Amino acid sequence: MSSTADNKVIVGDVKSRIDKWISNYPADQRQSACMPALRIVQEVSNGYLTTQLMDEIADYLDMPSIAVYEVATFYGNYEHQPVGEFKFCVCNSISCMLRGKDDIIAYLEERLGVKVGEVTPDGKFSIKKVECLGACGGAPMMQLGKDYHENLTPEYLDKLITELE
Ligand code: FES
Repeated sequence: MSSTADNKVIVGDVKSRIDKWISNYPADQRQSACMPALRIVQEVSNGYLTTQLMDEIADYLDMPSIAVYEVATFYGNYEHQPVGEFKFCVCNSISCMLRGKDDIIAYLEERLGVKVGEVTPDGKFSIKKVECLGACGGAPMMQLGKDYHENLTPEYLDKLITELE
């Protein structure tokens, strides 16, 4: 789903979910719901945010578009290019580096036939490097959707990808 002039995204269930966040804050502080609004809109917009979508959020939260762009480009969990249905967010930080994240990324690239930042031709998979996800004890690890996958090995990834294909 993406927004057009006639087809807004912040309607129905999406609007209700954002309104719930807005209700947590004083009436004149709607902008406090910016981060959850970005997450919710991204979820229902093929996993990434366009300028049009960010503008719609800015309008809805009564904040300048530039302020929404600043939030959406500062945090790594917001996407601005198409991503796969399954986005493998592989930790690129020190513990995972020491425990073999380079080999894990190389295996994923070979297995999926795409480089970091690319999407497979069927739109199913993409790979992203992310900063420490706070699960260093399970290094090397990655986030897939809302789940963490730890102590990654090529065998584990192969089984996982086969299940998702
Ligand atoms: S360094 Fe990878 S989770 Fe912390």
